[in-house]
Amino acid sequence: MNPAFTASPFVGQTFGVTVTKLNKQFGRTPVLRDISFEVKPGEIFAIMGPSGSGKSVLLRCIAALEVPTSGEVRIGEFDAADPATRDKVHLALVFQAGALFNSLSVYDNLALYPREHRLCPESGIRERVMHALSILSLEKAAQKFPSELSGGMKKRVAIARALVMEPQLLLYDEPTSELDPVMAATISEIIATLREQMAVTSIVVTHDRSLALTIADRVAIIMDGRILATGRPDEFKHTTDPAISNFLNPVIDLKNPRFKQLENHHE
Ligand SMILES: Nc1ncnc2c1ncn2[C@@H]1O[C@H](COP(=O)(O)OP(=O)(O)OP(=O)(O)O)[C@@H](O)[C@H]1O
Ligand SMILES: [Mg+2]
Repeated sequence: MNPAFTASPFVGQTFGVTVTKLNKQFGRTPVLRDISFEVKPGEIFAIMGPSGSGKSVLLRCIAALEVPTSGEVRIGEFDAADPATRDKVHLALVFQAGALFNSLSVYDNLALYPREHRLCPESGIRERVMHALSILSLEKAAQKFPSELSGGMKKRVAIARALVMEPQLLLYDEPTSELDPVMAATISEIIATLREQMAVTSIVVTHDRSLALTIADRVAIIMDGRILATGRPDEFKHTTDPAISNFLNPVIDLKNPRFKQLENHHE
């Protein structure tokens, strides 16, 4: 191995994540309230909750992109907020909106991280990038620019870019939104397969009920910044909690009074 190329001394090791009494406020508005949970090494942990409930902020706190108001996140034995932790644990966040560099081709978006961190020579980078693109059926898009991609393709490029980092902790923010049902199922399979093939712990924030209940080992439901419940997917299938049940199995009610108001509006 060329000594110019660096690797974490912890490669091959899987890390759990422990979140303890995490609070986050923006100004005086609390967004996360006393959030505590533990993700075991190698687990797929899904976080579900309505829009605005604090899921993306929570992921950003785990990735140390956001500073918690109080509380702590540990990745294995390391403090997530300590910059040195990023040298020890490879962490990749698949952003909700992709966060690709518009001026770079798909290939260069993927090659950026291994080039900057001198992970391997250019030939090795090419191999990694093309492998990640092939997993997500994106080989033909390698030379395209983000502006030339559909929303779903951007999403897949964002996941491919995370794979190139060979992460030990993978954080996904809505990996299947904007995808057609077949591609959404493929992404769910990829998340599950990656766990089998790599020493990786996955935290998946999602609205996608079938993704969470099919591939997750455990699911947490977050509402209004609080964890309402945590359990195995089968424990949620017959939940009697009305708030959770309404969220997981919403009923479309055309006799809803709100709908009536709309009708009257048109008269
Ligand atoms: N930088 C910020 N400054 C102020 N408020 C913020 C900031 N980021 C998020 N918020 C607020 O925090 C709350 C939670 O936002 P968050 O993005 O975590 O929601 P979410 O659960 O991911 O929703 P969605 O499912 O729509 O993606 C929202 O009320 C949002 O307005
Ligand atoms: Mg979000």
